[in-house]
Amino acid sequence: MAQIPDHIISDIRNRADIVEVVSGYISLKKAGANYRALCPFHEEKTASFNVNPAKQIFHCFGCGEGGNAFTFVMKYENISFPEAVRLLAGQYGVQIPFTGGGKLDDETGKLYQVMEAAATFFSRQLEKTTTSGPARDYMKKRNFTPDLVNLFRIGWAPDEWEMLTRSLAESGFTRKTIETAGLGKISSRGNLIDHFRNRLIFPIADVGGRIIGFAGRVIDEEQKRGPKYINSPETPIYNKSRVLYGIDLARTRAREANTLYVVEGYMDVISLHAAGVKNCAAVAGVAFTPKQAETIRRICDNVVVVFDSDSAGVAAARKSLPTLLDAGLKARVLSLPGAKDPDEFVSKHGRDEFLRLAAKASPFPQFIIDNVMKSADLESVEGRVKATKEVMPFLRRIKDEMERSEYIQILSDRTGVGALNIQKETKSSTPKTVLRLKTTSLGNTSARSQAEKILVRILLDNPHYLESLASELSADNFTNQAYKNMFELILGAKERGITGTAGILSLDMDDTLRKSLAGLSLQTGLFDEADMEKVAKDCVNRIRYHPDERRLRLEEQIIAVKEGKMNKFKEAQKKYIESRGNRI
Ligand code: UTP
Ligand code: MN
Repeated sequence: MAQIPDHIISDIRNRADIVEVVSGYISLKKAGANYRALCPFHEEKTASFNVNPAKQIFHCFGCGEGGNAFTFVMKYENISFPEAVRLLAGQYGVQIPFTGGGKLDDETGKLYQVMEAAATFFSRQLEKTTTSGPARDYMKKRNFTPDLVNLFRIGWAPDEWEMLTRSLAESGFTRKTIETAGLGKISSRGNLIDHFRNRLIFPIADVGGRIIGFAGRVIDEEQKRGPKYINSPETPIYNKSRVLYGIDLARTRAREANTLYVVEGYMDVISLHAAGVKNCAAVAGVAFTPKQAETIRRICDNVVVVFDSDSAGVAAARKSLPTLLDAGLKARVLSLPGAKDPDEFVSKHGRDEFLRLAAKASPFPQFIIDNVMKSADLESVEGRVKATKEVMPFLRRIKDEMERSEYIQILSDRTGVGALNIQKETKSSTPKTVLRLKTTSLGNTSARSQAEKILVRILLDNPHYLESLASELSADNFTNQAYKNMFELILGAKERGITGTAGILSLDMDDTLRKSLAGLSLQTGLFDEADMEKVAKDCVNRIRYHPDERRLRLEEQIIAVKEGKMNKFKEAQKKYIESRGNRI
């Protein structure tokens, strides 16, 4: 991968404010000088993930993860440094000069590129009136405005065999990339044929808005060829269990409203959007997965499950609840009367009516109790017990004790089973254990090590001290390996014109070092900031004039003399004199 110039990297970093970047993925709350959130990199119940706007870095005190905006995007999206740089460059309008082939080197990067190229191809096909007539008619019928088509990047796959694959090949994508991306498959004759044909195309994006897959819908239900929708096959970047259709467009509004509407169909998302309800996403045709719930959890606290009014819809809503609740989301359930799905409902009644009903959506325990009671046989003891037991697993998931006992009372009133009995049963469950990762430590904290630590910390924020104070210090003076590495890194960065923690964190370094560096940078109360210069001086002295070091240099001289090695002796003597500094 060709190198991206330092000044371009700094430029992107200066524009991509870390609070804004991180907010694009998870919801942050202001807490003093920092912003805080539940850490996206380990499981936790109390927020120990901090973002510091002044230093433009993040650090989690729970798992030790830390870094700058690039690091965050790398970790979150599971992509390489150059990919993260390019992603943010794209978002913040920074041009990266073409550096000779570097761009297409990365295999995953190519997959994203080919998906993007395919989306462009499909949307061009839709614009071509000659071939997309029926598709355009269909879209008119369903009230797709041009704005909506642009926003969702809706496209058209013509009724051809090799139109997309050929066009992609002409653009320089290899057969392998096209096949791996699921856009083409090898026919029995060995041709690479299009996966999507004669279908309306809905690009599916990840939280960051990158296209990872497509869904194709038939437009003529009469002459059906295959199912109503076909999707991209599973690929290295498309994983059905992670997809939340529309989440990239929903996330800003969902964060503001602290609520996401979860619907069943692609068309429901598009219609709700068109009606002005932007915080909605769809689990496309699969059961709700913990991964999807986790994605939502990073954006907001509340979910309203809006289900289709058929029995399959109710079943899907019920099935989704445990997953949502276990992820720590607050769930409510909304059923829309007089319409088969949210699409039909908003088309008929509009946004305000939707929001009016949404405000009254049932808390999940109420929904379950109502739903179970509909088919319960309350005439027999067996029937009452069965209904109670059906509801109980849901009530167990209510974290608030008072709330739980209120619902137990409601259930008891409805079934006639004693509240105390229900109470006893719900208590027998064991709470989920929380995974805790070990905090990375910086090693020993002897006085010397402490001085090294404080000095590194001061130099991170005050690189000019490198000249005035620490100029005579070399990395060899450090005894703690972690601080030694950091000191070398700061020196190296300075030579390249890079200063400040966030800038230094863009340099190549191992994971442990990066985490320690971010952690150290956000540590407070290490020293008296008002007296920083003096503290820095003291640290330098302590590091340079440490008795251990002088003893070491003295021993070196003695050994050199014993060995009769004059050069070595002179070298050791020089260092010894240096180590005494101007104390004498
Ligand atoms: P729907 O049949 O309700 O589709 O299926 P829809 O999106 O509302 O489309 P319209 O309104 O009929 O045009 C709900 C979801 O189930 C998945 C799709 O994600 C769809 O959006 N599905 C449905 C499939 O994956 N394959 C199918 O064949 C049908
Ligand atoms: Mn529908």
